[in-house]
Amino acid sequence: MNSKADTHVHTYYSGVSNYKVLRFPESIIKPEVQVERARKNGMNVLCITDHDAVKGAFEAQKYAKKYDDIEIVVGEEVTSADGEVLAYWLNELVPPGLPIEETIDIIHEQGGLAVAPHPFSFYVPCLRDRIFDLNLDGIEVINGGHVDHFTNTKAQQVFKEHPGRWAPFSGSDAHSVYTTGYNWTEFEGSGAEDFRTAIENKKTIACGQPAPAFAQVQWSIEVVMGAQKMLLKALAGTLEPDEDNPLITKMISISDVKKIGGLIGGFFYLLPPMPFLAEFAATKWLSRKSHALLNELDTKFQMDREQVFKICVYVPVEYSDKMMDAIDAVIEPLYPGYRRAFSITEVTGTWKPLKGSHPYKGRPGKIETAQEHKIEFIVKENDLKRVLLKIREVHPYEEPMIDVSPTYAWKSML
Ligand SMILES: [Fe+2]
Repeated sequence: MNSKADTHVHTYYSGVSNYKVLRFPESIIKPEVQVERARKNGMNVLCITDHDAVKGAFEAQKYAKKYDDIEIVVGEEVTSADGEVLAYWLNELVPPGLPIEETIDIIHEQGGLAVAPHPFSFYVPCLRDRIFDLNLDGIEVINGGHVDHFTNTKAQQVFKEHPGRWAPFSGSDAHSVYTTGYNWTEFEGSGAEDFRTAIENKKTIACGQPAPAFAQVQWSIEVVMGAQKMLLKALAGTLEPDEDNPLITKMISISDVKKIGGLIGGFFYLLPPMPFLAEFAATKWLSRKSHALLNELDTKFQMDREQVFKICVYVPVEYSDKMMDAIDAVIEPLYPGYRRAFSITEVTGTWKPLKGSHPYKGRPGKIETAQEHKIEFIVKENDLKRVLLKIREVHPYEEPMIDVSPTYAWKSML
C-alpha cells in the first residue's frame, strides 16, 4: 500500500519575510489548522518545516497524537549561509546562518535527514550546484510554490542524470491551506517510519503539480487580511501578547508609524483587482525569466548530446559479408558486448555506364540492374574518415553509393 506525505509545509512560526522592501507574514496559519487540512487532503505524513523554527512542528505533533490516520515529522527549513535546506526528524532547532556542510552535519548528528528544497530556484535562496558535493538525503523535484516551469524541470533533469543518488521529494511549500493538496511524496507503507525507510532506500515517488496561480492569490489575500487585522488591533492596543505567536510579537513591537504604513499598503493591495494584477505581473515575470532559462537548458542539452554518424552503403549482395567484416575491423564498437552490428536491406540498384567508365557490371550505354544490400550502421566521428577509406578500398564499384548523415547517440540523450 502506498501512502502520501506533504514534505514541506509552513505555519505562522515561519515569521515575517523580508523581500527587498516588502515585509509580510510568511503565513498566518496555526499548526493545528495545517494538520486538519493535511488529513482532509489524504496525507498520512505531514512534515512541518517552518523557516528557522521547530516550535510549530512540535505543536502540530502534539495536536495530531489524537489521530491514527496522520503522523507529524518535526522539520525545519534552515537558512544556511549557502541557501535553504530542509531538515527532518529533528529533536531541536538547527541554528541558521552556518555554512551548509556544518548545517547538514548538525541535522545528521541529531538523527535527522537533509533535503534540498527547490534546488534550482532563481528567486529563492537555494543550493544549486552545491547539491552535487553535499551529503544530502533527497532533493525536491517538485516544489508546489514554484509555478515558473524552470525550477522543477531543471531539478527533475538533474535527478534523472544521477539515478539512485537522492530520494525524490514533492512538497507543497504551502504557507497557506489554499496551496496544499496539489502535490505530495508517495511511499510504500503507512506511517512516518515507513516514510523514512523509503527515503533511505531512495524509493519515494514525487507526485502532483504546483498549486495553481489562483491558490497563490488566495494565500496573498489571506496573509494581507490577517496582517491587517493584527495591525488594527495592535494600534488599538487590543492585541493580546502571545509569546508562542511570532507574528503577534512582531506586530506589537513595530512603531505606530510602521503599523499605519503597513495598514495603508495592505489596504491598497486588497483593493480589487490588485491581488489579481499583482499575481498576473509576478506570473508574467516568472514565465519570461524561466523561458530564457529553459532555452539555455535546451541549448546545453543539445551540446551535451554525443554526435555520431549514420552511414549507408550499397554493395552487391555477394560482397556484403566481405564489406561488413572490413568495416567492423576499423571501427570502435558502439554497443558494448557486441560486434558487427549492421542493418541490411535488400534493394535493387540500377545504373547506365557511360563510355570510358569501368563498371563492375554492365556495358556502356545499357541500363543495368543488380541485387544489392543496403548496409546501415553508426560510427563515432573519430572513425568516420577511416571507415570511408576502407569502404572505398573494399567496394567493387568504380563509384560506390555512400550516404553519411549526422545524428545523435541515443544514450547521450537520456
Ligand atoms: Fe519553504
